[in-house]
Amino acid sequence: MLAIMSVRISCVSVLLPLVAVISGSQIKIINGEDAAPMSHPHQVSLQWNILAAIGFPGERWFHICGGSVIRKNVVLTAAHCAEIASKPAELKVVVNDHRLFDVDDTEQSILVKEIILHEDYIPGQDYDNSVYPNDIALLRLVGEVADSSSIIQIDTEEDRNRTGQTCIITGWGLNDTNSATPNILQQREMKVISEKECEELWDVEDSFIFKGHVCVFDGPNNTTGGAACSGDSGGPLVCDGVLVGVTSWGRTGCRVPETGEFLPSVYARVSYYYGWIQTTLQRWSIGRG
Ligand SMILES: *[C@@H]1O[C@H](CO)[C@@H](O)[C@H](O)[C@H]1NC(C)=O
Ligand SMILES: *[C@@H]1O[C@H](CO)[C@@H](O)[C@H](O)[C@H]1NC(C)=O
Ligand SMILES: *[C@@H]1O[C@H](CO)[C@@H](O)[C@H](O)[C@H]1NC(C)=O
Ligand SMILES: *[C@@H]1O[C@H](CO)[C@@H](O)[C@H](O)[C@H]1NC(C)=O
Repeated sequence: MLAIMSVRISCVSVLLPLVAVISGSQIKIINGEDAAPMSHPHQVSLQWNILAAIGFPGERWFHICGGSVIRKNVVLTAAHCAEIASKPAELKVVVNDHRLFDVDDTEQSILVKEIILHEDYIPGQDYDNSVYPNDIALLRLVGEVADSSSIIQIDTEEDRNRTGQTCIITGWGLNDTNSATPNILQQREMKVISEKECEELWDVEDSFIFKGHVCVFDGPNNTTGGAACSGDSGGPLVCDGVLVGVTSWGRTGCRVPETGEFLPSVYARVSYYYGWIQTTLQRWSIGRG
């Protein structure tokens, strides 16, 4: 796990995919607030059985990422989260969780049956194209969510322009650089900015952000701003109750180290992958709604 992370970090020196790591420095939403119980019923905790991963019997589950329920037996998450597992059975999702480290009596754990990573996902920087392009994956679950209100509608191609809207990000990612995983699900409002503005703020070559990305930002100010952080990966960006983004990447440490300032958080743009999602669901014979 740590080896995987260090390879990734050296590929993309200023960027970190926002997956949680099991020890060492992890990444929660910075400057978020506690969500009310069950206020984001589509949000799942994606967990990895570290014992199965190293070939031992038994179960020892760790939160690695977020995800969103889009059908009663399908979760949308980030490819860099799903690829951590060498077998689907190493992963489960926990639906209707609120306090990650306590029993709320609302949680439902469902094992993963099949993982489909986007065929053009690139784990790291593709210098001709982008950073972590197509960082999106579908998880087909062994069972179904008990409560159909967990299912969130996904953004369509027609609604792709969300620039200027105030939306909500949620997750159990770190609440600050080198901080700890929060117990209670965190939420924060963020503004959607254009790909062009996002690129300018990152101040890097203009191929950095592409149409498959959507960026959120709330200013650089190190006390009033905010960002997604490690452990938020795969989780939702929601605008008007519709799933618009999947947490993908941000600044290593989730702030600029010297000033504590924020940069935009970058998401996979769900509307761009609408066709891919529908095709995959059809392959699984899973209908609309
Ligand atoms: C993160 O959580 C810690 C421990 O609860 C707290 O002391 C700290 O102020 C929080 N940081 C932010 C930015 O919310
Ligand atoms: C997207 O919407 C914003 C805000 O309404 C508008 O300023 C912008 O021109 C639109 N962009 C495109 C590509 O349509
Ligand atoms: C950041 O925001 C705080 C609170 O509004 C303000 O006091 C501070 O001056 C701002 N910092 C900068 C660098 O603008
Ligand atoms: C925010 O910026 C101020 C002044 O620019 C600085 O003194 C402070 O340490 C910074 N805070 C963080 C969390 O980096």
